[in-house]
Amino acid sequence: MATGRGQFSSKIGFLLAAAGSAVGLGNIWGFPTQAANNGGAAFLLVYLVLAFVLAYPALMAELTIGRYARANVITALSQLHPLPSLQKTGFIVGIAALSVAVFILSFYSIVAGWMLAEALSPSAQLLQLHSVAGWIDTQSFSRNGLMCLVMSLLTIMIIARGVEKGIEAWSTRLMPALFLILLGMIGYVLTQTGATEGLRAYLVPDLSRLSDPTLILSAMGQAFFSLSLGVGAMLIYGSYLRDTDNLPRMGAAVTLLDTGFAFTAGLLILPAIYVAQAQGITVFNNEGALIAGPDLIFQVLPALFDRMGVAGSWLALAFFALMSIAALTSAISLLEVPASVAVERWGISRPIAASLSGGGIFAISLIIIWQFDKLFSGVVTLTTVYGQPLLGVALCLFAGWVLHRHLLLKELRNGHPEIEQSFFWKVWPFYVKFICPTLILFTFVQSLR
Ligand code: TRP
Repeated sequence: MATGRGQFSSKIGFLLAAAGSAVGLGNIWGFPTQAANNGGAAFLLVYLVLAFVLAYPALMAELTIGRYARANVITALSQLHPLPSLQKTGFIVGIAALSVAVFILSFYSIVAGWMLAEALSPSAQLLQLHSVAGWIDTQSFSRNGLMCLVMSLLTIMIIARGVEKGIEAWSTRLMPALFLILLGMIGYVLTQTGATEGLRAYLVPDLSRLSDPTLILSAMGQAFFSLSLGVGAMLIYGSYLRDTDNLPRMGAAVTLLDTGFAFTAGLLILPAIYVAQAQGITVFNNEGALIAGPDLIFQVLPALFDRMGVAGSWLALAFFALMSIAALTSAISLLEVPASVAVERWGISRPIAASLSGGGIFAISLIIIWQFDKLFSGVVTLTTVYGQPLLGVALCLFAGWVLHRHLLLKELRNGHPEIEQSFFWKVWPFYVKFICPTLILFTFVQSLR
């Protein structure tokens, strides 16, 4: 299997690809608004703790299994142990992970398409193409379908080119661009009236919220979604890592980049919301909570950009280009899950594997767009609230119980020969065996009540 398998050519290539997967709509949109509605820095604090204490060990489980098996999620999980029953279980969990990846991508590319539409509409305005802008601005099956198609095609094209020329090359181009746009926008928004109030809402902790159980639940869900866990996306990226790379350090860097990006995005979104308020735009709903979710992105921010004249068109373009890029680098990691299965299990070529899986997922997206009210939120809940945490538990159990301890150690020694003396090795194996699965399950059961 090793022959002809792709590999990341450098540490930074892997880091930007994995961070590209992790940093997405979840960071720029999900995290800041959750923080705003859950006690500002209190949420940030809980999020940081959970990201490192719960999500990082689970991320390490995926990266280690991936690099050990050097295979896609289904093959990897069904080869961790000689016992046939465990192989069968691995196979089934692999199928489940693949299915969840497929359905997450099917709704994610719809949302990515909306972002693209919002980026194209100010571009059309700036080019004086007002009727085009009008069509892009109006929700319709054809508009949503077309935008989703464009995002899907971009995703397929990158995955078709392979690990080094596709995933790595494009992540290395897009991630720095993403960061620069983000910094530029923060610089601009912070000069506007109302911005300091937003910073205060974000950074001054309301510690009374720490006792709120829903805060921990939201923070865990957010951390799992944000680190792209549970579906084998990080597993397959881990499988393309070189043997000379230090896994615990790579995982920690990805976690830091992801949380760092989420934190930085908060420095844009929260001030922007309060700048909008200073301009007379409604930003709080009837219950006094900040408007979050789609309304924030598609009403509050566009209303703000509208009032800023031509500068606003450029800002809207920059912001939604930012969102589209973030969505694209995340989408490629999701498409790599089925594409790698098709390449490695069916022996078909990468371009065909990428087109077949991407095309199939686009067909699912179209059905969701067509029956949006019936399907969309159900698919989101099923995959992110149920699928991801349960699969996260399963992957921890596979790393902790199924993969033999000496094989785990052998794998981690690659790239980190003294691992046995490290703090990581002293706590992590115990952690993925007992603590992580218990904590995730506990939080999950709480969330069902
Ligand atoms: N982490 C990305 C975000 O924050 C989304 C994402 C990419 C994802 N790959 C994933 C979520 C795999 C769950 C599983 O937007």
